Amino acid sequence: MTNNSERSRGMASLQEIRARFPAMERRVEGQSVAYFDGPGGTQVPQTVVEAVADYLIHHNANAHWAFPTSEETDLVIAQARAALADFLNATPSEIAFGANMTTLTFHLARALGRGLGPGDEVVVTELDHHANVAPWQALVVERGVTLRTVAVRPESGELDWADLTSKLNRRTKVLAIGAASNALGTINDVAAATRLAHDVGATVFVDAVHYAPHRLVDVRAWDCDYLACSAYKFYGPHVGVLFGKHELLQSLDLPKLEPAPNSSPERLETGTQNHEGIAGAAAAVDFLASLADGPTRRARLQTVFDALHEAGSDLIGELWRDLSAIPGIRLFGPGPAVARTPTISFAVPGVPAREVCRQLAGKGLFASHGNFYAQTVVERLGQSRDGLVRIGCACYTEPREIQRLIVAVRELCG
Ligand SMILES: Cc1ncc(COP(=O)(O)O)c(C=O)c1O
Repeated sequence: MTNNSERSRGMASLQEIRARFPAMERRVEGQSVAYFDGPGGTQVPQTVVEAVADYLIHHNANAHWAFPTSEETDLVIAQARAALADFLNATPSEIAFGANMTTLTFHLARALGRGLGPGDEVVVTELDHHANVAPWQALVVERGVTLRTVAVRPESGELDWADLTSKLNRRTKVLAIGAASNALGTINDVAAATRLAHDVGATVFVDAVHYAPHRLVDVRAWDCDYLACSAYKFYGPHVGVLFGKHELLQSLDLPKLEPAPNSSPERLETGTQNHEGIAGAAAAVDFLASLADGPTRRARLQTVFDALHEAGSDLIGELWRDLSAIPGIRLFGPGPAVARTPTISFAVPGVPAREVCRQLAGKGLFASHGNFYAQTVVERLGQSRDGLVRIGCACYTEPREIQRLIVAVRELCG
């Protein structure tokens, strides 16, 4: 990521960032662990751990009662909505929390489905994680809607935009699209997709789980109607976050307990929330914002994400170049010249991805394998049986970790 000279430009150095993460101290065979599993879940800084512990030690209570710990809990949640609103460029009343993106998406899809029936169409994509497919697919059985699936172009890992355009029509009620592919690192032009969908009167739901750790989400610029992400992918605990335009959240017809609050965003939240996780999610946003100087939290986040993107692009450029020079390696997804996240997937023909990852782990290189629930695109790449090896760079990834990885993959192939 950034080197030490960055500090003078108002951005923390890579060494400073790494020092914030206790997990960086872990060793395997005397070597520090390189965590390339960020797309599955990042490590957390000390301040996030402290925020979770602080909530449980000092403020633990249920919400909405007239005694201090309960009032403090209300405040923790309100502050977290404000932090996540800054993170997504929304307002606090547009931020709901839940167990994870998958659960929130099933809940939202079921609610939106109440207004749908035979003749209505929902559009999903082959590139998406199935958490942005299955909840919509359920409406085929539950509501009799028709599901249309936009094709991916396996050779580039990009969506087929002509196919997307052709699948949208006046019957389309929802477009469910990922902002970035957790399997390949592809970034989709969400603003353009939203315009196309709105032109035919459809509602747009965005899965920003893989995008949110790498580029600063802007729900206003995208004009999407709903968006979900997960704090555990951007240095927080295991909590899901749902954005919805205020007027939509307010009027959504959804299953809820009659005595539970009916104002938005609380009406989206089922049961008692994970308060300590919510406190940690806010601390994750504040951790990111603390890495740069700037007049507002949003401005600091923008500086940080620009710097992270630049550093990630350098790492991915090096990784792509050196991995593609290893005979036999198959790389997937868009090349480094295209706008993408710093996540690369590859395969070593004849060696199952699980075995590759097991061998890398022995050298302190932790990488994930499989289809990452982006099952359809992995099928389309012909890797259903052996899976992919996925290397994800995060804010704490060092160039020398990339070098260690390349040496290890070379040895494995040699
Ligand atoms: C792109 C993408 N969407 C959705 C999910 C599901 O998120 P959650 O675990 O919060 O349900 C993931 C998790 O890996 C993901 O990477």
